[in-house]
Amino acid sequence: MTKIRLETQALSRRFGALVAVQNIDFKLAAGARHALIGPNGAGKTTFINLLTGVLPPTHGRVLLGGRDITAMAQAERVKLGIARTFQINRLFRGLSVLENVCIAVAERVGAARSMFYPAGRRTDVIDEAMALLQTLKLAEVARHRVSELPYGRQRLVELAISIALSPKVLLLDEPAAGVPSAESHIILDAIERLPEDIAILIIEHDMDVVFRFASRVTVMVGGALFAEGTPREIESNMQVRDVYLGQAPYRAAHV
Ligand SMILES: Nc1ncnc2c1ncn2[C@@H]1O[C@H](COP(=O)(O)OP(=O)(O)OP(=O)(O)O)[C@@H](O)[C@H]1O
Ligand SMILES: [Mg+2]
Repeated sequence: MTKIRLETQALSRRFGALVAVQNIDFKLAAGARHALIGPNGAGKTTFINLLTGVLPPTHGRVLLGGRDITAMAQAERVKLGIARTFQINRLFRGLSVLENVCIAVAERVGAARSMFYPAGRRTDVIDEAMALLQTLKLAEVARHRVSELPYGRQRLVELAISIALSPKVLLLDEPAAGVPSAESHIILDAIERLPEDIAILIIEHDMDVVFRFASRVTVMVGGALFAEGTPREIESNMQVRDVYLGQAPYRAAHV
């Protein structure tokens, strides 16, 4: 039986009268390559905010490895292995690439250790950060300020930071959003090379990416779970085509 890493039960979130996430039962398997798709405003980002603890739900539960984490703060969830990227990048733009990644590594190895090691001697942190930058092909810009990099590279640094946390679950909210298409492949290639045991949930609007990367696809519409299946099942689901997948060419093929 497939091991479930992350699960939601009847998860809901209201903003006043608006039900942004409605009664979602969802399972993310260990090592999953899972995509979350749906129209703008469907509730995808809100759903991820509920998983990470950015927002509290108005109803329902979030379980990590079977443990109820619904009431846990964001930082505690990160320690348990939930990492994410944001739809808009949130880097320390004035710091170097290496410094940004070192902060994440140092955070993971724990503040407690810094009581025994003076700040200047954290070569373990720097070595690990450099190794990670190497795997993401960012080593040659390690000393550059984030603000000097093209946007695609900045998003890659964001990815480096979330991987530096050694997550069990990685939530990617449109990791290539705003990146010129000539550059977006570097991000998607990096995502495809991530360690297999990390369970990945990716929100992505580019269906070529979704169908290439994901082995499971969940469709959200109007805050609710609309469909779930293999890429092939989702692609051939007529209702999904109607509500989301660029209807025009499909319609043309079916009149
Ligand atoms: N903090 C908030 N306060 C009030 N309403 C919100 C808040 N955050 C999101 N919403 C609303 O909740 C709904 C779902 O938004 P959400 O950002 O989760 O959608 P999404 O699926 O991520 O859309 P997109 O594809 O455009 O990123 C929208 O109607 C949005 O306006
Ligand atoms: Mg969103």
